[in-house]
Amino acid sequence: MNILILGSGGREHALAWAIRQNPKCDRLIVARGNAGIAAIARCASLAIEDGSAVVAFCEEHAIDLVVIGPEAPLAAGVADSLRTAGIAVFGPSRAAAMLESSKAFTKEICDACGAPTAAWARFTDAPSARAHVRASGAPIVIKADGLAGGKGVTVAMSETEALQAVDAAFGGAFGAAGAEVVIEAFMTGEEASFFVLCDGTTCLPIGTAQDHKRVGEGDTGPNTGGMGAYSPAPVLTPAVQAQVMERIVEPTIAEMSRRGTPFQGVLYVGLMIENAEARLVEYNVRFGDPECQVLMMRLGAQVLDLIQACAEGRLHEVGVTWADDHALTVELAATGYPGDYVKGTVIRGLEELPETATQMMFHAGTTEASGQTLATGGRVLAATGRGATLAEARDRAYALVDAVDWPQGFCRRDIGWRALRSEA
Ligand code: GLY
Repeated sequence: MNILILGSGGREHALAWAIRQNPKCDRLIVARGNAGIAAIARCASLAIEDGSAVVAFCEEHAIDLVVIGPEAPLAAGVADSLRTAGIAVFGPSRAAAMLESSKAFTKEICDACGAPTAAWARFTDAPSARAHVRASGAPIVIKADGLAGGKGVTVAMSETEALQAVDAAFGGAFGAAGAEVVIEAFMTGEEASFFVLCDGTTCLPIGTAQDHKRVGEGDTGPNTGGMGAYSPAPVLTPAVQAQVMERIVEPTIAEMSRRGTPFQGVLYVGLMIENAEARLVEYNVRFGDPECQVLMMRLGAQVLDLIQACAEGRLHEVGVTWADDHALTVELAATGYPGDYVKGTVIRGLEELPETATQMMFHAGTTEASGQTLATGGRVLAATGRGATLAEARDRAYALVDAVDWPQGFCRRDIGWRALRSEA
């Protein structure tokens, strides 16, 4: 089977690493890829948000299956173009991708199917939104309705912060994504993510994870795309997972199908859990980054069989082989991230690292130039370990971190702290 993966981050390196191990995979191309992906697949230059360009590329290279990594091509309708051209694709249609590309849409779906979530209201002008904030008080959550590269959500602990977030959105800070604002009640509890494959009809849970969004140790400082993650998430016990399937995932999938926009792909279910009761925080319509790294580390080669069955509407025919193991990933980021960060610095020591089923350095923002690996992004490497316990997985991940020579990089040293405390 010839496979094309769209994307160039740590998520796509992890997908490529797992897919490459499956004997069914003949040719693997990743557009655009990175220095780590280039070691296991062909990297290609392609306008990944242009459906016609992606279809033409697939026809030219006899691609049998396309795996779409990030949300932007999904929101742009690339999966629709591929399906129309008769090419198997893992990823939802543009209409179904609205579960991520519009916060208000997701809230409407929750209301329609009874999925538990925070109380909410939507606004298209600043004065009404400001009045709502004043009437509700803080803490309160302000969300730009559209895709804002992970920057559109403010969990405001004061009324002043909430009003500033409203003004920023309507002032154009997120472009068209902030033309509408959703304001939600603040939820307390512990956040965790649940990943479910859906082929429009059948839903298959494939794992749980928790990430660390804040840049600083102790979960402090500004938000990032994620400084590390681990799987499984202890708070998502089998009973809570069953509850989430029954009250949130299955009703949502049924509602999407009822509207004529079935969801096909991976549903990333962001949850708040308190006293073993789960409420929906948000949906994403793709794997998380860095959550994908820990999921791929645990699932391995079977991921291709699962993704293929999902793309072909055959999820009812397959199952997941679970191992009673743990995985943990630590992001190495460039100094300055998540603000302005240094670019083009040299990373040494990568060639000597082990690449095994229990230790893998996934690349995100890297490129190869004149035989050297250069850091090109904010989040640059994801040091990932797997073990019989979370502590063992953590030790393997940090052993990779410590073997890399990159003075301009940094990482958090406390990834997994909450789960490790309960493991001890
Ligand atoms: N790690 C969060 C995300 O991928 O959206």
